[in-house]
Amino acid sequence: PLVNTKEMFKKAYEGGYAVGAFNVNNMEIIQGIVKAAAETKSPLILQVSSGARKYASPAYLTKLVEAALIEHPEVEIALHLDHGDDFEICKQCIDDGFTSVMIDGSHHSYEENVALTKKVVEYAHSKGVVVEAELGRLAGIEDAVNVSAEDATYTDPDQAVDFVTRTGCDSLAIAIGTSHGAYKFAADSDPKLDIERLKKISTLLPGFPLVLHGASSVIPEYVEMCNEYGGQLVDAKGCPEDQLRESARYGICKINIDSDLRLALTGTIRKQFALDPGNFDPRKYLAPAREAIYGMVKHKIINVLGSDQK
Ligand code: G3H
Ligand code: 13P
Ligand code: ZN
Repeated sequence: PLVNTKEMFKKAYEGGYAVGAFNVNNMEIIQGIVKAAAETKSPLILQVSSGARKYASPAYLTKLVEAALIEHPEVEIALHLDHGDDFEICKQCIDDGFTSVMIDGSHHSYEENVALTKKVVEYAHSKGVVVEAELGRLAGIEDAVNVSAEDATYTDPDQAVDFVTRTGCDSLAIAIGTSHGAYKFAADSDPKLDIERLKKISTLLPGFPLVLHGASSVIPEYVEMCNEYGGQLVDAKGCPEDQLRESARYGICKINIDSDLRLALTGTIRKQFALDPGNFDPRKYLAPAREAIYGMVKHKIINVLGSDQK
């Protein structure tokens, strides 16, 4: 069934695991992810960015998710807006049947973020929809090179308490060293999330679900597959799986993954193009790409998120 994330997060918090939130842009991506969740009996969040909504046009993605639920009615799926940047897009998605929205006011001043988030929470809650907010900035490689830079961008634990209390948001995305995309850490560095900061935040907000964005591992197998077949992804590096798993023990209930889907899809398509240059039937390269996504997501659910059989 289509659900919101309230119960999902409550169980995840208590069980010390996280639910995967996967970005979806087309049919094959949705099919691969949902098959993996169905087979592993895992709850699932499918998330749509404003870019994805623009790419596919709004109706297509919601209808594809409805189709997934017809095929797999037993899977608990939340349909979530990823990085909504104003009230209007949140309202549109709520009115379109999304069960969860993110209002990302992290680039605004603190007070503006509070006010904007509050406004979305009021509307969403009146419709039974839950709200994820964000506090702190997801830095890239260059942005957080020392402790003072970290303090400026990472989520402040005391401010997180104030923010959650004042806005009434249902979950909070925090900055502890992850970033979006395939280049999260310098190639020669030892990637490290600020787990101590996470522990502080979750101690101050007991029982409250936290969210980790930019949490792809940038799986080397798929980076290499891209590069072996003509791609140029130099020095890509992501979050180590063991640190993601650890973060789920300290209140991280939702782990966002997009880049790993993109890499699995693109790597596999590149490989198919190289192996069968005479083919021009899209199904012949999209079917293996969909299988790659299925296998990758299944691995995440069982070995990284711990949400199987839940
Ligand atoms: O947070 C970013 C997600 O990976 C979505 O990316 O806005 O290009 O769809 P997008
Ligand atoms: P990645 O780029 O690490 O997959 O992060 C995705 C994300 O946070 C979507 O909101
Ligand atoms: Zn994100």
